[in-house]
Amino acid sequence: MKWKRTHNCGILTGKDVGQNVILMGWVSTRRDHGGIIFIDLRDRWGITQINIRPESRAYEEAKKLRNEWVVAFQGVVEPRPAGMVNKNLATGEIEVLASDMQVLNSAITAPFNITGENVASEDIRLKYRYLDLRRSEMQKNLILRHKVAQLVRAFFSEHDFLEIETPFLMKSTPEGARDFLVPSRTSRGKFFALPQSPQTYKQLLMISGFDRYFQIVRCFRDEDLRADRQPEFTQIDVEMSFVTEEDIFVIMEGLMACILKEILDIEIKRPIPRISFDDAMRLYGTDRPDVRYGLEIADITEIVKNSEFKVFSEAAKSGKRVAGICAPGCANYSRKQQDDLAAWARQRGAGGLAAVKVGAGLLEGSLAKFFENGQSQAIIEACAAREGDMLFFCAEERDLSRQILAELRGEMAKRLKLIDHQKMSLTWVVDFPLFEWSPDRNRYVALHHPFTSPVPDDEDKMLSDPGHVRARAYDLVLNGLEIAGGSIRISKQSLQQKMFDALGISKAEAEQKFGFLLEALQYGTPPHGGIAFGFDRLIMILAGCTSIRDVIAFPKTASATSLMDGAPSPVDVEQLVELGLRIKK
Ligand code: AMO
Repeated sequence: MKWKRTHNCGILTGKDVGQNVILMGWVSTRRDHGGIIFIDLRDRWGITQINIRPESRAYEEAKKLRNEWVVAFQGVVEPRPAGMVNKNLATGEIEVLASDMQVLNSAITAPFNITGENVASEDIRLKYRYLDLRRSEMQKNLILRHKVAQLVRAFFSEHDFLEIETPFLMKSTPEGARDFLVPSRTSRGKFFALPQSPQTYKQLLMISGFDRYFQIVRCFRDEDLRADRQPEFTQIDVEMSFVTEEDIFVIMEGLMACILKEILDIEIKRPIPRISFDDAMRLYGTDRPDVRYGLEIADITEIVKNSEFKVFSEAAKSGKRVAGICAPGCANYSRKQQDDLAAWARQRGAGGLAAVKVGAGLLEGSLAKFFENGQSQAIIEACAAREGDMLFFCAEERDLSRQILAELRGEMAKRLKLIDHQKMSLTWVVDFPLFEWSPDRNRYVALHHPFTSPVPDDEDKMLSDPGHVRARAYDLVLNGLEIAGGSIRISKQSLQQKMFDALGISKAEAEQKFGFLLEALQYGTPPHGGIAFGFDRLIMILAGCTSIRDVIAFPKTASATSLMDGAPSPVDVEQLVELGLRIKK
């Protein structure tokens, strides 16, 4: 091919009329109109209409064109006839009157329609991801991702942060999710792990004096996958020295303000509101509350403890929690609607869901008779309910109650269309506990990670009362999704050792797994702290998608496989032998 492309397919406008151009791209559609052939030629910049008349040298060959063929057209930019202008297209004022064409490559029929509205199943899209990525939506998502990555780099660089790369082959230090392991050929029987995050490296960089580090970095976790979790995902990773929580909040709020302004033209109010972990759990049942809408949880355990309604009073007396939410204007919910919702709750493990109508100052309906007027009024007050509302309650153990009501909030917000999808609601969640009890491991585990500093006043409770130690940790929540998490770190070796003790990690084990860090901490460690953003999650929200797979070029399926290339796959026996490995049947 001797031709050289002069323009892309998204750039020509009325100003270019009369120019001779050469365009190259994919056939998006081909239409025959009374002897004239129209091609929509597509590339990543847009679509340009090509007009091929019977007298053109290109005409006979253009008849053979099919969707997704790769072609080059030579021609002159012409204004579209009056009435044919397409205002929705950047190039909608013009078309290119083709004088000649070259087929650069043909294409077999695609397994799904790349241009149309009907989207194929996700499995097919993932198998042919390179075709799926031609769709304008996917192109938009990846372009958005690129833009945000550039904003992030510029922002941190302007604020004097250094981008430093850290290893992908590291020591296995399992204490969060499971590690992905990489066998070493040169050190037989030994393994690297892929980093779950660069946590220890960024702390070591602080010890080295590289105050203000950031990195847009891939992390690897072998954990159960969901719409917002991938086995490999990207973090915007940050660490700073000589800081407190406030310094980190200011920088991160600046970053969020910059991204939301540049990408969505949204101004956020700073400082971003904060809620304590305890309040979040009490009011929203979760540590990542969606505060775009209300529907706060009300606890009525004490009010109903002595009521005649046995389901509630007995539950309350046995230590369960009676709590619920107020659905505004739902007093007219039919029996069937109420039953449906109760069934929905039972599917999630609830014993049931009691629905109580709110009348003029008192509860109404079949359950109302079990409550004295005083109790009835107290319930209404606790729920901040008004006449015409419906209250939904469950009586469960604390954790199940939280889980069900958190989901019920989301479900009712959806059903009642209370979610403003244009809104970006950011919240810092602070005052996390340092430890949480893990029934699986039968010991306390670090809620964030074992390098998180306790609140100094609580240090002496770390061994005696671990359940009540507060952490200097924080999460940033956007529209009900945890988009970032971080903490002020432990910077003293003795405290780090105490943390391992509290986690039930023996001295020998701590030495074996984290000896390098314990040693480094002794060589003059500055106080430091940081945070990491889930980059994919952030892009997902900015793009208005519901799965991070839609903002990752080549994601894995929910079962952590790649449908396109078939990874993971068996390897040759020789490869295993070289690594000193054998697969057990
Ligand atoms: P954390 O484990 O909270 O913190 O991770 C930080 C953020 O990364 C995102 N995230 C994920 N995104 C997609 N798929 C996953 N499997 C996945 N797991 C986590 C979340 C989360 O908020 N080293 C610490 C950070 C620190 O303390 O500075 C860390 O990794 O949005």
